[in-house]
Amino acid sequence: MDRQKALEILNKYVKNDFYIKHSKAVEAIMGKLAEKLDKENIELWKIAGLLHDLDEETADWQNDMSIHGPVSIDILKKENFGNQTLYNAILAHNPKNGYKAKTKIEYALLAADPMSGFITAIAKGYPDHKVKSVKVSSILKRFKETRYAKGASRPYMMQIIKTGIELEDFAQIALEALCEIDEELGL
Ligand SMILES: [Fe+2]
Repeated sequence: MDRQKALEILNKYVKNDFYIKHSKAVEAIMGKLAEKLDKENIELWKIAGLLHDLDEETADWQNDMSIHGPVSIDILKKENFGNQTLYNAILAHNPKNGYKAKTKIEYALLAADPMSGFITAIAKGYPDHKVKSVKVSSILKRFKETRYAKGASRPYMMQIIKTGIELEDFAQIALEALCEIDEELGL
């Protein structure tokens, strides 16, 4: 699967810079997770992260959350891109469309999506706004504060355990991933 083609599709359908950055953040986390969980398919895992919110500006998900995911698959099929593993991972990141995660890549994407936003929220709370200032211990502490960044689903993040990775290691992996592309993310 071709990352350059995936990026072209993303840029064609998603114009908001916030979502482009979010997509790249989730891509980075998925790449690091794949290094531990599925070394032969790192590119596929990264592309799943990059394209998971592809229908963000196309689907009217504000009125019907069940279409977030299926519309992305429609777009990808129209663009003649991807395979069933990619489609299932994208579907799994939004349980509200009815598809339930059952493979490692699916659990990983379900967990990586809120974790990217969670770490970003913590970084933005610091005076320097830098992701490099965030510590794993801070992520774990904030994780337990249910009212902090409550849009970042703790139950979804906890699904990482189903891949065999503990929450603390996941926080470390995700933090490292975001630090590697901090300038691109503006963090
Ligand atoms: Fe997302």
